Amino acid sequence: MMTTETKMVRLQKIIAGSGITSRRKAEDYIRNGLVTVNGETVMTLGTKVDPLHDHIKVNGRHLKAQPPDMFVMLNKPIGYLSTLHDPAGRPTIKQLMPKPSLRLFPVGRLDGDSEGLLLLTNNGDIAQACLHPTHHVPKTYLVKVKGVLEDLEVQQLRRGVALEDGQTAPAKVKKAGKAQANSWIELTIHEGRKHQVKRMFDHIGHPVIRLKRIQFGPLNLGKLLPGKTRYLTDKEANDLRHLLSLSGTPSRPKPKSSKRTVKSARTTANSQRRPHRPKVGTA
Ligand code: URA
Repeated sequence: MMTTETKMVRLQKIIAGSGITSRRKAEDYIRNGLVTVNGETVMTLGTKVDPLHDHIKVNGRHLKAQPPDMFVMLNKPIGYLSTLHDPAGRPTIKQLMPKPSLRLFPVGRLDGDSEGLLLLTNNGDIAQACLHPTHHVPKTYLVKVKGVLEDLEVQQLRRGVALEDGQTAPAKVKKAGKAQANSWIELTIHEGRKHQVKRMFDHIGHPVIRLKRIQFGPLNLGKLLPGKTRYLTDKEANDLRHLLSLSGTPSRPKPKSSKRTVKSARTTANSQRRPHRPKVGTA
């Protein structure tokens, strides 16, 4: 049952995490002698097992282990593609990941010449939910544009502009500074169309010079340096789940503490589970 210390997870957590039942019912199964690990009945709550290597059966049925969710924030620097592999050999975010062996993939995209907050996860459901229009995840960008924006143009952006793929939804727009020939704008949108921010500013005649995402839903880039990554905190992971109302989905029950989730996630870095990759654009 024991392999290395770092890989051990409590049995009831693994059973509940597999989506077949709640944590409390999982504990009942264990107490009632319905759970075996590598053929031996385990009736002690809190027994730790290796989710990747131990063979767990509940009521005679083999349990497929799911690695816990992993969430990593990256400050993507300009010049890196938001993809894991580029056939042309250009730099990709794969090179910036905490460990290349982790099966993380980006939630949405930032253009190669954009920078800032990019969320990485191993959970395809959460990634897809983040990108789904019904969740309206707000994304805030600090944008440097050519020229000085008139108030009327700010109003236009706020109301929405007519792009070739339709009118954009109302946006929050704040002037964040201006130089003689350029302006800094803080723009918050809830959509995720391809090159949306650049197209919005092009539409009003102020091409984007620099584009940095500083907020994604409840997540703030803060002082994370370009090219650096960090694991989300408990609160951030739970806030994200809350925003997506995923906290209770049967396949991925909300962890009691995402600190434990993230920590244990690190221990399952070699998982063979293939996350399904959502279709993504830039937002
Ligand atoms: N909108 C864009 O146009 N580009 C990005 O990288 C992100 C949002």
